[in-house]
Amino acid sequence: MSASHAAPLLRVRDLNVWMPGPAGARLHALRGLHLTLDAGDSLALIGESGSGKTLTALALMGLLPEGASCTGEIELQGQSLLALDDTGWSAVRGRRLAMVFQEPLTALNPLQRVLAQVVEPIRLHRLAPDRETAQQRAMALLERVGLDERQARSYPHELSGGQRQRALIAMALAADPVLLIADEPTTALDARLRLQVLDLLASLVAERGMGLLLISHDLALTARRVQRLAILYGGQLMEQGDAATLLTEPRHPYTRALWAARPRLGAGRDQPLHPLPGQVPTLAQLEPGCPFAPRCPLAQPRCARQAPAWDGRLACWEVTP
Ligand SMILES: Nc1ncnc2c1ncn2[C@@H]1O[C@H](COP(=O)(O)OP(=O)(O)OP(=O)(O)O)[C@@H](O)[C@H]1O
Ligand code: SF4
Ligand SMILES: [Mg+2]
Repeated sequence: MSASHAAPLLRVRDLNVWMPGPAGARLHALRGLHLTLDAGDSLALIGESGSGKTLTALALMGLLPEGASCTGEIELQGQSLLALDDTGWSAVRGRRLAMVFQEPLTALNPLQRVLAQVVEPIRLHRLAPDRETAQQRAMALLERVGLDERQARSYPHELSGGQRQRALIAMALAADPVLLIADEPTTALDARLRLQVLDLLASLVAERGMGLLLISHDLALTARRVQRLAILYGGQLMEQGDAATLLTEPRHPYTRALWAARPRLGAGRDQPLHPLPGQVPTLAQLEPGCPFAPRCPLAQPRCARQAPAWDGRLACWEVTP
């Protein structure tokens, strides 16, 4: 077996991202992230708005905004992605590594029927011998995600939000990726459709043996549909582990606060029972210490001075393994 097959599907080591700030400043947006994902495995990256979830996904896709810089290691099946040039990326992005973006409307071409948009990546990556076979593959994929032929031949504006989200998933899967990144794929949907789309993603992972990196701000909704969780705050990993363990024994103060704030039956969906007090820091407000310190009930003076080290499961001065 070659080294690339022995490697995990995705390995991220010490990923750091700096964004351009005012007056030439560089803002340290992602700070030393470590993530690992195996084929057939699903990992949810969870955190409040502004935690750095989308920036992480964009770094993995090589799509960071102009002026951003990135250090560390990102390996897909043992291949280093940060070293890729444009030609190298064209063999990876949209092919072995695909993403469902956070904004479903802007990700679909309003002037093209959905079926044609799923055919496109199949043709682009030469995965079918002719147009007819590509069409058949695209149609089968759209049916698999729950769209019928009439819906497949519709324009995006003729579909509901849930149907558009399914079309985007089909588009991302068209080139048979080994890793799918789905950035808040259910935010625009109502509660029933959210569960349906998450269940669809979970069954596609099992069927295809691909990896799934699911990005969400909703710990309670996501946690039971993935195998592992990584909790992100202020661009730093707070806690990571097996989903069942993190739900029954959340240890990090931020994970505990997110879990305590989850919506409960009777409280109304989207109505946290105990909203987290305080605000997520902006990039300019991030201090060198633990980003959660201003909101943390366990914070001690050293928390604000120095960030706790990541030990593989937790980063916290006060909670030790
Ligand atoms: N293009 C950009 N230029 C400057 N700052 C940015 C840019 N994109 C993101 N940021 C900042 O980086 C931080 C992380 O943003 P990111 O989009 O990754 O958050 P997120 O966790 O995906 O949030 P949400 O749940 O709202 O999508 C935020 O402080 C955000 O304001
Ligand atoms: S390091 Fe300190 S501030 Fe950060 S989560 Fe732990 S106790 Fe709270
Ligand atoms: Mg985002």
